[in-house]
Amino acid sequence: MTMTQQEKTDFKDALAQKAKLANQVLLDILDSAEDIQPDIHAAMRYTLDAPGKRIRAAMVFWCCELIAGEVTPAAKAAAAAIEMVHTYSLVHDDLPEMDNDEMRRGRPTCHKQFDEATALLTGDALLTYAFEVIADKVDDPKTALSLIRLLAKAAGPAGMIAGQMQDLNSEKQQGTLDILKYIHTNKTAKMFAASAAMGAVAGGADHARVKHLYSYGLDVGLCFQVADDLLDISASSQQLGKTAGKDQAQGKVTYPAVIGRTRSLDVARQLTQSAVEELTSFGPRADILRQLAVELLSRSK
Ligand code: IPE
Ligand code: IPE
Ligand code: MG
Ligand code: MG
Ligand code: MG
Repeated sequence: MTMTQQEKTDFKDALAQKAKLANQVLLDILDSAEDIQPDIHAAMRYTLDAPGKRIRAAMVFWCCELIAGEVTPAAKAAAAAIEMVHTYSLVHDDLPEMDNDEMRRGRPTCHKQFDEATALLTGDALLTYAFEVIADKVDDPKTALSLIRLLAKAAGPAGMIAGQMQDLNSEKQQGTLDILKYIHTNKTAKMFAASAAMGAVAGGADHARVKHLYSYGLDVGLCFQVADDLLDISASSQQLGKTAGKDQAQGKVTYPAVIGRTRSLDVARQLTQSAVEELTSFGPRADILRQLAVELLSRSK
């Protein structure tokens, strides 16, 4: 699938609109929160207010719109929750004990701006608060439980934590394609799959549709991490808003390190194709999700 210049521009505008909505929802939630300890509140705000791309939130919104024709209040809560969990994962990923990074979203990392203990607690706070947001803001208990289950599974010890653990344990080791797939699927793709599925659930989708959108998200998410590995080599720190060239320096098992750049690009293209195919039954109404898959393949940051 290829996109015309006009389609590309329209897509960029649509994504910017969804990112704006995500930012509004996140800040509304934080600003109306009561009783959060002021130092933690400041650090949560610092990390959440930074210019993240909000791709996961956009995926929640678009999947909900595909099902329900609108962004429901449950989708707003789900989008805020997934971005909080994602942001927590970055705060901890950047800690000296993990990837030891000093720049994130074009700003000093949380532990540089504050200190390591604050960064640990800020991550803990964002992770916990995400679930509080869903529990508080999603009226229908069945929907809330499904959202909580999807997010917990994606972020937990059989999801992102599993990928992050294997990522660290594989440093400076000879990676295989199987290990790579395990790391990338768990540390990144499952959060994308959860985003798509949570959007569908928030829109009231049936099981079959949730399953299709989950698979779509898994493919897009894996492609997203392959592109992240490629960008680490080819883009500048300024462009990325985070330190480029770190994967090789730290001996990370990445797609380009294991199978080279050309084959990595082939894998990314195949994943995009497979993501698009997963949307067949939704017809033209899913075009924005097709465009998202295609655009993420050629993203530059
Ligand atoms: C960075 O995610 C971590 C990965 C899973 C590659 P993003 O590239 O979505 O980061 P933000 O949210 O835009 O900062
Ligand atoms: C991070 O992968 C995935 C997370 C779960 C945070 P990376 O370590 O490659 O992400 P960046 O490059 O630091 O954003
Ligand atoms: Mg990492
Ligand atoms: Mg990192
Ligand atoms: Mg990376």
